[in-house]
Amino acid sequence: MKWIYKLLFLLALLPLGAHAQNGKANTFEVGKGTFLLNGKPFIVKAAELHYPRIPREYWEHRIKMCKALGMNTICLYVFWNLHEQEPGKFDFTGGNDVAAFCRLAQKHGMWVIVRPGPYVCAEWEMGGLPWWLLKKKDVKLRSLDPYFMECVERFETAVAEQLAPLTVDKGGPIIMVQVENEYGAYAADKPYISAIRDMLRKVGFDKVVLFQCDWSSTFEANALDDLVWTMNFGTGANIEEQFRRLGEVRPDAPKMCSEFWSGWFDKWGSAHETRGAKEMVDGIDQMLSRGISFSLYMTHGGTSFGHWAGGNSPWLMPDVTSYDYDAPINEYGHTTPKYFALRELLQRYADGQKLPAVPAPPAPLITLPEVTLTEYAPLASGVVRTETDAIRTFEALDMGFGSAIYSTTLPALDAPAVLQAEVHDFAVVYLNGKRVGVIDRTKSQNSLQIPACPAGTKLQLVVEGMGRINFGQGIYDYKGIVGQPRLELAAAGCRTVHEPLEWTMELIPDTYENALAAFRRQARSPLETRAGYYRGTFRLKRTGDTFLNTEAFGKGLVYINGHALGRFWSIGPQQTLYVPGCWLKKGENEIVVLDVIGPKAEPKVFGSDKPEWNKLNLTAADDITDAARRPNFSVLTPAHRGQFAPGNGWQKVRFGSAAKGRYLALCAAGGHDASTVSAIAEIYALGADGQRIDRNPWKAYYTDSQTGTRTVDKVFDLQESTYWQTAEGDALPHTIVIDLGSEQTLTGLEYLPRAEAGAPGSVKGYSIYVYN
Ligand code: GLA
Ligand code: CA
Repeated sequence: MKWIYKLLFLLALLPLGAHAQNGKANTFEVGKGTFLLNGKPFIVKAAELHYPRIPREYWEHRIKMCKALGMNTICLYVFWNLHEQEPGKFDFTGGNDVAAFCRLAQKHGMWVIVRPGPYVCAEWEMGGLPWWLLKKKDVKLRSLDPYFMECVERFETAVAEQLAPLTVDKGGPIIMVQVENEYGAYAADKPYISAIRDMLRKVGFDKVVLFQCDWSSTFEANALDDLVWTMNFGTGANIEEQFRRLGEVRPDAPKMCSEFWSGWFDKWGSAHETRGAKEMVDGIDQMLSRGISFSLYMTHGGTSFGHWAGGNSPWLMPDVTSYDYDAPINEYGHTTPKYFALRELLQRYADGQKLPAVPAPPAPLITLPEVTLTEYAPLASGVVRTETDAIRTFEALDMGFGSAIYSTTLPALDAPAVLQAEVHDFAVVYLNGKRVGVIDRTKSQNSLQIPACPAGTKLQLVVEGMGRINFGQGIYDYKGIVGQPRLELAAAGCRTVHEPLEWTMELIPDTYENALAAFRRQARSPLETRAGYYRGTFRLKRTGDTFLNTEAFGKGLVYINGHALGRFWSIGPQQTLYVPGCWLKKGENEIVVLDVIGPKAEPKVFGSDKPEWNKLNLTAADDITDAARRPNFSVLTPAHRGQFAPGNGWQKVRFGSAAKGRYLALCAAGGHDASTVSAIAEIYALGADGQRIDRNPWKAYYTDSQTGTRTVDKVFDLQESTYWQTAEGDALPHTIVIDLGSEQTLTGLEYLPRAEAGAPGSVKGYSIYVYN
């Protein structure tokens, strides 16, 4: 009988029907109103997965999970800065073997969409661009700058060596390749986009379908005639509206949502984001019933291990380590209610074929007993190099990731002074080794009051660089101290400024090897702090996935058995780091923690069998609903009053005359629908020249109502899918106040309501105040 099993086994390996995953050439083309696979209409149901956000050992499991969900395609970015960590040195091995990932997808009958950037956004360090590009002072990223383009070509050539042999015309799974990423949200530069397109063709993606992805509000700025245009938008969006303009300009084109956001990413210091399963499933149902293709971003988000999480602007809104994304498959590869809700829908669109069974997780969930990290090495033990002279950024000092101790000697300060320093991103400040405070860029701080002190006092800033900004013009995100720090003294009515010119910079690069070396070096630290490296071991009888609780520690990074787990920060919302079981061992295991602030308690960790993604530890000073911040409307005159129109899409208003002030208040008197809830997705203020003013210095200052993650900062986070919204039942009018950072002259406003059908919460009557 054994031969029967053998035969059944061999049969099971054979590809099914139209999957054509057998190494034979296939055709994938753009037809009238649809894509065509081997000449037949084909709807792309893609699952976005990022290979570096999943341990290689689990790749196959996650792909099978997508297959069992009812997807037919895997969509992925190629992360330039992961593969070319030093100029010209490429690594496509191990967890970086993107070709192996694509072949695994093919093995399971999945097609592949490749998005090789060069820029990818993705809440990934610098949007995938290598930090070393910033070493060239005048580099113009994402443009025709010859140096930038030369580097891009070297990278895309390397990508093509890996992936061009896997395109569909050569028998591979790759059906489409993306040109750049949402460039319309960055700039208008068709010559640049054309050059990236031509380059992709030249390096080897010569026959495969090329496409652009953008927002419906921005796609036309860079749309090239010979590329497919696809739209990105989130759960809940009004689908008709999202494709309206595309339908007008290209009535016969296939429609595709290239990123349908299943959830959203989390930022340090903000509550965990979730999006409704029903809204997500309804959106996909609406698309499939109209023959619209989609990619679900993310279907499984995974983890931004090590130092690869990025950040957003204004200032810095750094992304947490977990990239769970509230996706159908959670961070650790398990199903969620969203998964089953979607699977039920996709089963209905599976052409009568029964979806494969949901695979069991590759590892059990386990707990770890409490481990005290008894070995300690002061932070200074991590210093590998000391530089003196003029102050410089990490990039200018040739360090990509890590921390640095910036030291200088002060003149006599007879009175308290204000230290002004563009710290990227977080500094603990010491005077003669004693901690005097912190400068935290995420709170838009760039100064600190320091006490009077005698000449010769040593000023030291321990500066930690977090992930580089991955979206918008903020991608020139130098780390360390940027520019020249100043000390401003205001004593006896006269103001003096002192700019210390001589600095010592001690570099602490972020690598596991350096963390280990720190324990051997054991430097004596002049800083009175418990910041530094902590190490401990524990023994395991069986391995499994677990969540390492870091709540005893302040802020830093964790390595387990040499694997970089990621960043932690006690402010939350994330308080546990995902530890894939495949990185643990039977027998002895090692944990190393680098804490740049120092632990709050005993340096202990433990492993839980559940993640903690939503535990914020914020101080009252962060409360923007504090009534003391409410403007005194009785003494203010509105700069403008009016009514917004109903419906989705951008609207512009101009004030009767220019208004000056540092604070911009908008009062919503009521909405277009029956509810008393107000919501706003985005606001731009127009300056004296009628153009949008820079929102980078903006800060949410006050509101009388906000709910959950629908906070005021969402009106200037550059994202059309996120919005501020008032709590149900809070009485009208509703007020938001934005601190513009400095006094501005304003002449108008651009306003975007929510993207959902009917623009729920859209404001009707409003008053705008500009004041100091
Ligand atoms: C955009 C980008 C993605 C990602 C999402 C938000 O759509 O293209 O890379 O950043 O926003 O998660
Ligand atoms: Ca927004």
